[in-house]
Amino acid sequence: MKSKILSILQSADDYVSGESLSNQLGVSRTTIWKNINSLRADGYKIDSVQNKGYRVLYSPDFLDEDKIKDGLSVDFIGSQIKVMRTVDSTNEEVKRLSKSAENGLIIAADEQTSGKGRFGRIWKSEKTGGIYFTILIRPELPPSNISSITLAAGYAVCLAIREYTNLDAKIKWPNDIIIENRKLCGILTEMAAQSDRIDYVAIGIGINVNQSEFPEEIKNKASSIFLETGKEIDRNDFLRYVIKKLDMVLGTFLVSFSVEDFKGFKELCATLGRKVYVERNGEILTGTAEDITTYGELIIKTESGKTLTVNSGEVTVQGIY
Ligand code: BTN
Repeated sequence: MKSKILSILQSADDYVSGESLSNQLGVSRTTIWKNINSLRADGYKIDSVQNKGYRVLYSPDFLDEDKIKDGLSVDFIGSQIKVMRTVDSTNEEVKRLSKSAENGLIIAADEQTSGKGRFGRIWKSEKTGGIYFTILIRPELPPSNISSITLAAGYAVCLAIREYTNLDAKIKWPNDIIIENRKLCGILTEMAAQSDRIDYVAIGIGINVNQSEFPEEIKNKASSIFLETGKEIDRNDFLRYVIKKLDMVLGTFLVSFSVEDFKGFKELCATLGRKVYVERNGEILTGTAEDITTYGELIIKTESGKTLTVNSGEVTVQGIY
């Protein structure tokens, strides 16, 4: 009912009376009034004038499937796109749909009520500030390739942010995207697999886009494209750009992957050359991040002269949140 009312109001040049809405839609004026209030709660600004009716003054920047797909041509990432106003977590929704979903399905949401970060953290996902989406892929690869899939996704998002905004976004290994020392994007990859093959991978991506502030506890660690550029961006247009880049980069990656293929990957990796702390068997080791292997692992030279190859887990970079 809300979308029907909205479409009548948005296509009218002037105020539309409650009576006309109720006649056109075959419902009572009380139903119209309740739905108008519900649209207002969603963020629409709707003026109401006695004896004239209702008029939409402002529509919030919701994600919209048709706008995202407009002019989008992809090989497989985004072959199917579903947008939800609100969901617990787009990763969870992908898992629920995983049996029947096609390769490349994207679930995007305006709001997540239980957004998840890595290491069991919460990913704050308030309405219309960020972009929250998950891609389902079915790569014909062994499960050991999971970390490089995430790496490739982070690389694609980093390139998209750089090209779309001109910001000097960098990668914090393995797949956070940062600006200066603050986080712009996080990726949570989850996988269902047999011992020798991947069933599906859910790549969950959260990008801080139009947030004008962050809660106290992450204020010094997080930033958004809006805070960095001073401009709000059109999230549908930007998401289309990100999907195109992901399709290009992951398309290449799934055929054959090596970090060398991603020209410039290492130049964009803010972790290399920095002092890092890594947890190994309950012990914190200090070293310098020296290189990335062709499988995407981080090579660390410890202070005691040992070389460590790290493929997951928490690596803390000195000076970055
Ligand atoms: C991290 O940096 O800790 C990873 C954050 C991943 C957040 C995204 S938002 C879309 C998808 N759905 C989730 O619940 N989490 C990921």
